[in-house]
Amino acid sequence: MRYLGNKTRLIPFILDAVERFGIAPGVACDPFAGTASVASALKASGWAVHAGDVMAASYALQVARVEIDSAPEGYDERLESLSGLSGERGFLSEHYTLAGIPGREHGRMYFSNENGRRIDAMRSRIARWRSDGDIEPRQAWLLLATLIEAADRVANTTGVYASFVKTLQPNAKRPLELRRVDPTPPRNGSAPSSAFQGDAPDLLRRVGPVDLAYFDPPYNARQYPGYYHIPELIARGWTPPPEIRGKTGLIPDEALRSDWCRAGRVAGALSDALDATDTRHVLFSYNDEGLLTRSEIESAMRERGIADSYILLDRPYRRYRSDSDGPGRTYTRDRVAEHLHYVRCR
Ligand SMILES: C[S@@+](CC[C@H](N)C(=O)[O-])C[C@H]1O[C@@H](n2cnc3c(N)ncnc32)[C@H](O)[C@@H]1O
Repeated sequence: MRYLGNKTRLIPFILDAVERFGIAPGVACDPFAGTASVASALKASGWAVHAGDVMAASYALQVARVEIDSAPEGYDERLESLSGLSGERGFLSEHYTLAGIPGREHGRMYFSNENGRRIDAMRSRIARWRSDGDIEPRQAWLLLATLIEAADRVANTTGVYASFVKTLQPNAKRPLELRRVDPTPPRNGSAPSSAFQGDAPDLLRRVGPVDLAYFDPPYNARQYPGYYHIPELIARGWTPPPEIRGKTGLIPDEALRSDWCRAGRVAGALSDALDATDTRHVLFSYNDEGLLTRSEIESAMRERGIADSYILLDRPYRRYRSDSDGPGRTYTRDRVAEHLHYVRCR
């Protein structure tokens, strides 16, 4: 899925670092899991992974990719059944397609009318299966993860949901198509993995001692709930319907706003997370243009672990550029570095 800070392309770099530091697979915690790309790569390399994130959309992806070991029986049949549904009017198509509510047109064009109605029909069918007891909670989350990813492929955005495009883009004209999301099978009888929705220090305290803590927090002022409110809505559902506001139809998100995105609070967030961590090794991903400076992170890591074991690795990569940035927006640099800070703690 298109996601700010998605580490899919950096996975070889991260796994190489794990190997280079001689960290043998055991139990890992990834409390800023986002799309669960790193958590599932670690699980595929033999780790038991406890993933977490404040967002419900991430929770769906974590359950689908990390917590469950294989797709439940009947997954393909459920996908077929959802794919065969006719679209229906509902909360999502009313507020996020041009079909809108007659007389109260809001002009939000996040999806084509047809795709919006199909998302409504699929979301309500998953909720009905769940409330009738036809599917287990994890099966429901797997289906929601599948729907979130399918909706993302046809979203009329340039990659994030902070705005929509004024005309339907080619991807948004295509009919929504559900594609299997494959859970990651565990290797060599590793311990069970898990998913969590909540604040990073809460998860870190809850899981207790681990071998590896992988941190990948937001690094700038962009609050994820405002950039991904539609995946979040699909994950949470709309019963009762949330109050929505503004041009983009934001949903209430005060509880999800992160101190990592606030210049005055980010240093406190870093020390809270490190204090809550009981681990042998910490790997910390951060961008060199983030709110925290490289030396602030270095001092916090040296203080938390064995100071001499601290190492910084970096890898330059092309800047993420959404299409809406346009030619008028200029950057001082086109390449930025992704830093991986390492410290051994015990
Ligand atoms: C850079 S992204 C992680 C990307 C992820 N590694 C991936 O590959 O998709 C940062 C994530 O941290 C989450 N987040 C922000 N503040 C948080 C907090 N206090 N506790 C847990 N998660 C938080 C955001 O919702 C977002 O998904």
